[in-house]
Amino acid sequence: MVNPSRIASVEDARKFAARAVPRVLFDYVDGGADDEITMTENISAFRRIGLLPRMGVQITEPHLAIELFGTPLAMPVILAPCGLVNVMHPDGPKGVAQAAASRGVVSVLSAVAGVSLEAVANGEDTSQTPMWFQLYSPKGRSEWEGLVERVAASGGYTALVVTLDTPALGNRERDRRNGVSIGHRVDVRSATTLALQIAGRPAWAARMAAATLAARRSPRPPGPTVGLVAAGGSPFTWKDISEIRERWKGTLLVKGVLSATDARSAVDSGCDGVIVSNHGGRQLDGAPATMSVLPEIADAVGSATTVLVDGGVRRGSDVVKALAAGADAVLIGRPYLYGLEAAGAAGVARILDIFRTDIERTLILLGCPSVADLDRKWIDLKH
Ligand SMILES: Cc1cc2nc3c(=O)[nH]c(=O)nc-3n(C[C@H](O)[C@H](O)[C@H](O)COP(=O)(O)O)c2cc1C
Repeated sequence: MVNPSRIASVEDARKFAARAVPRVLFDYVDGGADDEITMTENISAFRRIGLLPRMGVQITEPHLAIELFGTPLAMPVILAPCGLVNVMHPDGPKGVAQAAASRGVVSVLSAVAGVSLEAVANGEDTSQTPMWFQLYSPKGRSEWEGLVERVAASGGYTALVVTLDTPALGNRERDRRNGVSIGHRVDVRSATTLALQIAGRPAWAARMAAATLAARRSPRPPGPTVGLVAAGGSPFTWKDISEIRERWKGTLLVKGVLSATDARSAVDSGCDGVIVSNHGGRQLDGAPATMSVLPEIADAVGSATTVLVDGGVRRGSDVVKALAAGADAVLIGRPYLYGLEAAGAAGVARILDIFRTDIERTLILLGCPSVADLDRKWIDLKH
């Protein structure tokens, strides 16, 4: 495992991750759908936006803290919900939640993170910064009702994030090539491929084996883990969102909005916020880069609701660009997963520290005293 201090950037963490875990796990994180056009475009769209600095001002301590739904956050960065975090490193979803809490930011537990939502909610160090829970469309209505009740009963989550962009699983060809894919049978050939990949990463295999044995010795955590979403399951409709709104008393967000029309439907359905997202380019390839639609969505609903964005955020300057374009905060997915695969929970914390330093430096160089001051005058959208 790499010493986290050797990670200087997200791209560094990505390289260390590739060396730390079996290929199948690296590709699961690193890959996207079909030709990975949307995934690549997410990053390119950030690169096309210019920053417009002001000179002659002295900023020593830029202000990064924000308040989101009444919760103070140390910076406008949230850890996005990601599946299968339990197999990336033994620190797993609990480690991710603790790393986030230690840096004063919110993390969102995925419905398919691989642990029970009660087990993570009970984590000792996560009390100060609340967590959010992400919901996938289950097979039937009774399933989401039960799940929403469990999330509420656990007392560990202040917000529910309903992901809309997964009525079927995207075509992740890297996963298929690696012989393992959700919804596909594992045959002898794919099992052999997997065994060879695992044999090539003995340190990872030893860590996971030790953690599994230790878990067998300790009492089972409360609550069942939530099953994987069936590809082609029943997608959430706006009517479902209105019904969830009636049952869930906490903050409600929908994730996967890519148009002003859908953002308005979210507001009309009673959501407290929208997450502009294309699932990191893992679902519909050809869907727009999130930064190319964010300004229009923020203009349409920004005064009525909270607007968050994810996809392709790799540097603090990207966070600054997103906020200047109209987002209230961003989510990061792959950046912290690379950190986790490379160095466990300490790697996740390291990634958050890099973002913090990066945002501070960018604001100083811009001549902007606070993230609250960011608006369109700081960016050139047609760079
Ligand atoms: C490995 C991986 C697993 C993911 N699993 C989920 C998930 O379970 N639920 C969900 O809503 N989004 C999931 N996402 C999407 C992320 O929440 C987020 O939208 C995306 O990663 C943002 O793009 P970025 O990776 O470029 O930061 C996943 C993303 C990755 C990379």
